[in-house]
Amino acid sequence: MYRTHTCGELRRENLSEQVMLAGWVQKIRSLGAMTFIDLRDRYGITQLVVEEHSAPEVKEAVQHLGREYVIQVTGKVIERASKNDKMATGEIEVAVSELTLLNASQTPPFTIEDNSDGGDELRMRYRYLDLRRNPLKNAMILRHRMAQEIRTFLDSKGFLEIETPYLIKSTPEGARDFIVPSRMNPGEFYALPQSPQTFKQLLMVAGYDRYFQIVRCFRDEDLRADRQPEFTQIDCEMAFVERDDVLEVFEELAKTMFRNIKGIAFDGAFPRMSYADAMEYYGCDKPDIRFGMKINDITADVQGNGFAVFDTAEYAGAICAEGCAGYTRKQLDGLTDFVKRPQIGAKGLVYIKCETDGSYKSSVDKFYSQEDLARIAGKMQANAGDLILILSGDKKKTLTALCALRLEMGDRLSLRDNSVYAPLWVVDFPLLEWDEESGRFFAMHHPFTSPNLEDLELFSSDPGKVRANAYDFVINGVEVGGGSIRIHDSNIQKKMFDVLGFTPEEAEKQFGFLMNAFKFGAPPHGGLAFGFDRWCSLFGGSESIRDYIAFPKNNSGRDTMIDSPSPVSEQQLKELSIRVTE
Ligand code: AMO
Repeated sequence: MYRTHTCGELRRENLSEQVMLAGWVQKIRSLGAMTFIDLRDRYGITQLVVEEHSAPEVKEAVQHLGREYVIQVTGKVIERASKNDKMATGEIEVAVSELTLLNASQTPPFTIEDNSDGGDELRMRYRYLDLRRNPLKNAMILRHRMAQEIRTFLDSKGFLEIETPYLIKSTPEGARDFIVPSRMNPGEFYALPQSPQTFKQLLMVAGYDRYFQIVRCFRDEDLRADRQPEFTQIDCEMAFVERDDVLEVFEELAKTMFRNIKGIAFDGAFPRMSYADAMEYYGCDKPDIRFGMKINDITADVQGNGFAVFDTAEYAGAICAEGCAGYTRKQLDGLTDFVKRPQIGAKGLVYIKCETDGSYKSSVDKFYSQEDLARIAGKMQANAGDLILILSGDKKKTLTALCALRLEMGDRLSLRDNSVYAPLWVVDFPLLEWDEESGRFFAMHHPFTSPNLEDLELFSSDPGKVRANAYDFVINGVEVGGGSIRIHDSNIQKKMFDVLGFTPEEAEKQFGFLMNAFKFGAPPHGGLAFGFDRWCSLFGGSESIRDYIAFPKNNSGRDTMIDSPSPVSEQQLKELSIRVTE
């Protein structure tokens, strides 16, 4: 037996008990003849004390301990002279009578403290040491608890957890696939699934009308704080459902999670917003609705005054930042620099200050009278003391830039409090997205998404206008989930492949298995998938999903701890019939 208790367990009730603990040496402090050791394990820290009258072997052994040594101690629980009310075990300590060194440790490359002195790279390389730190440990515990809640909830609603394969077929839609060569089939490749999409649809054909899986997905795309090449979805599908049936079940799941994990009760239904409104008023399809500051189209209000930038623009839009009329020249220049960053791409920023005396001051005063500015302020519902910020240009790009500016102002005005949660369903996405570069339509969600049946006629006349029966789940401006009602009619599926530019042969080659299955009685079905890592990071209050993944990749898609990806031997390549060229 290594231990009778964990390091987070002992309390006043245990006083006088003889206990055995095992763990890592967090800290050693010597005060004269006394030595204090903080002993740590997953459950907490317990203070150990070695005194003048302790056994000589123990006093000797303590001399040789260092940080992160693994030890086992036996001793008596005694009351602490100076209590620490910040520690769960802060009222007691263990007077050590026996000490066994289980394993020594090299000096760790960074401190195993809540605020470590180690940089990102170093901590990634020694991830197993980083995982000893409280913030990561708590993240792992949160993730585990969330997974348990999800399983319990979905089980209670009759969902079956069914695994689907990881070695599948490469498909041309969506992100880039990770591919895996097949030794037994030279020259042929598997792909790792970007999601189990087609399999869950096949499970619906198979009659398993409520499926879920907490499943790893793989996408070879550029990485960001909220994107990893392998990430986890809570993947779900239901048969005999319409959109609102799906939204109802998963809204209940989300509410259960908020209640049981965060202790937050949501009474009413989550708000729903059309994609069109999200784009028009927030400039993106995942609005952060913790705060207002909606975007207003003021194109007609600013054109015709001789200001060429606005007159020649397709669109001019504005936001109103409450109480910011006092912004200094420097602050305004800072905002201009912000919108001019290449990733935001605006050419400049025009402002109107609604002064507290009722007058207006603008960067384009030359072209606009006080009445003109008052009219714009009226449209923006701006009050004295507010600051109106205007961008113009190509509509789509300007809205995207306004979205970034709105979020930036939200940050500056502390309107994006991490402890406030604003969930939202975004509905009625377009079915298709035009890609200028390749001159063709792409499925905005995926090729199996059902069009809104009211829009079917538009398929031939104006495909870009067809709405999809698709929805996203957004919390605080983060896309946490997405899904749709699927096409289960092979004629509509054929139309969809047509619009996407697949010849019947190509469609057959890529998705024949699914189209065939649909010939054997496919029920109406639909579902969604939550990004589990993103949901964990939102609940945990961090921007980066990496903190919620035990062994993540860095921004170049590398695992520096195991040094992957890495070259393989000539022999391995030969077995796979692969030759690597420069
Ligand atoms: P979608 O592609 O929208 O839908 O993915 C679902 C959710 O997964 C999360 N996500 C990611 N998280 C971390 N890193 C990534 N690289 C990454 N990519 C996506 C997002 C997203 O909302 N099969 C469909 C679902 C369906 O239609 O049922 C799908 O995969 O939170």
